[in-house]
Amino acid sequence: MKNKPCFKLLFILVSGYLVLFFASCSNIQPKPSVIPEPVFAEMRPGTFTITSKTKIVTESDEVSLVELAGFLSERIELATGVSPEVITTGDSGMKNTILLITSADNPLLGAEGYELEVDKKSVRILANQSHGLFNGLQTLFQLMPAEIEKNIGFSKPVIPLPRCKITDYPRYSYRGLHLDVCRHMFPVGFIKKYIDLMAMHKMNSFHWHLTEDQGWRIEIKKYPLLTSVGAWRKSSPVGRNEGQDSIPYGGFYTQDEVRDIVEYARKRFITVIPEIELPGHAQAALASYPHLSCTGGPFEVWTWWGVSENIYCAGNEQVFEFLEGVLTEVMHLFPSPYIHIGGDEAPKTRWKACPKCQRRIRSEKLADEHQLQSYFVTRIEKFLNSQGRNIIGWDEILEGGLAPNATVMSWRGTQGGIETARLKHPVIMTPGSPCYFDHYQADPSLEPLAICCFNPLEKVYAFEPTPQELTPEEATYIIGAQGNLWTEYIKTPEHAEYMAYPRAIALAEVVWSPTDKRNYDDFLIRLESHKLRLDYRGVNYHGRKK
Ligand code: ACM
Ligand code: ZN
Repeated sequence: MKNKPCFKLLFILVSGYLVLFFASCSNIQPKPSVIPEPVFAEMRPGTFTITSKTKIVTESDEVSLVELAGFLSERIELATGVSPEVITTGDSGMKNTILLITSADNPLLGAEGYELEVDKKSVRILANQSHGLFNGLQTLFQLMPAEIEKNIGFSKPVIPLPRCKITDYPRYSYRGLHLDVCRHMFPVGFIKKYIDLMAMHKMNSFHWHLTEDQGWRIEIKKYPLLTSVGAWRKSSPVGRNEGQDSIPYGGFYTQDEVRDIVEYARKRFITVIPEIELPGHAQAALASYPHLSCTGGPFEVWTWWGVSENIYCAGNEQVFEFLEGVLTEVMHLFPSPYIHIGGDEAPKTRWKACPKCQRRIRSEKLADEHQLQSYFVTRIEKFLNSQGRNIIGWDEILEGGLAPNATVMSWRGTQGGIETARLKHPVIMTPGSPCYFDHYQADPSLEPLAICCFNPLEKVYAFEPTPQELTPEEATYIIGAQGNLWTEYIKTPEHAEYMAYPRAIALAEVVWSPTDKRNYDDFLIRLESHKLRLDYRGVNYHGRKK
């Protein structure tokens, strides 16, 4: 048993050399290390070389196409110092070009798929929509030498590309990564890097967890105390809630910073989904506005990890006015079709003892506090639906009755997801095992303190988001999966990257590539060369050689 990892490493090295050896004999380019693995990739003999004379040509001067051409041109300029000329006249007959086309009219490709052909004289990327072209560009970058990831990585503007034909599209429409910025906060620059890495691996949804018991992190102009009071805690737990460090901690994102991040993500075809937790995980909001609680407070922004019993009062109309005010500003900032409303871990202790909550149960003819939570969530859903948005909630929103148009994130295993799919509602799979990247990924005795459990890379890679119990019709409700990064035990950007990577890359392949294209040993070979790209980007992934 002890020698097993050595054999694995040997296998990877030998396989890698054999691939290179046979490829050089036949003059066919070796299979490139594209992650996630494309649906179809055929390597052909020969290369095309991008030089200072190569032009980027778009099919038309449509804004999104010109933006994409600019994105490609900037990347090449950063890596070579020379900016390729962009031509928007759509002359597809020109030689020595990288051609971007959005009139593929190929149903197989959907909104996010693409075809990429590297010929002797040109590169062509075809898609139905600009999102597909963007994904094609991510593959194009990975076909280039890793130096494309580095500022002035090339001494001359000469970038060789292997000739090939790739047809590619995602398995799932929702491919997400989450970040909790409440337990610990992360700078805007880091969030942009997180988004860049998501885009590189063709993920499309960034779930931004913005409010918690331990801190409220988004500026809301109508309710300034949320950030002047709710964004700051006087102390944080030491170890696993073993004591207090007595160090004040806090911060928040201004609305300008939020807009900047949302726009940055938009250019990378990533939807930012804000999470505003209700009715629980609300103690920081209640510390700011205690009249929104059942007891009237006072409260402080929580200084312990865990689940606070102080939640919004469901019998107080002012709570709904407040939440509608908050959500109105949130909707102005986030164009996302989805708003995440939390819904998890809301203890019913306060509601049971609260005359106003009990009055609401009677007046609405509800059976119990679970139905009161369903009333609460459904009322918020109605408001968001009236503004053209849909809600996502954690799987507790199934209890007491699912709101009519809700999408569910199944986190307490996959059972909630199965139940949701049978109710014909969309499901995003995020089961703790293996989608929680705050869990250990290697021997706990050698790792920094983590919350619990064991989710190594191989387990993430083996994840199957669509449960076998579902019929083919029910399975269509599984729209994707997401990796979650809760940050009780993660204080710095470096540590966040260490926990997220490379596990997020394994998940990216799970949600993009067809099941029959997934092979862990092959993934490890590709990941080995992919790591140089991450090194050039300064990513502190787990297993990085120092
Ligand atoms: C959760 O981990 N409480 C959704
Ligand atoms: Zn109450």
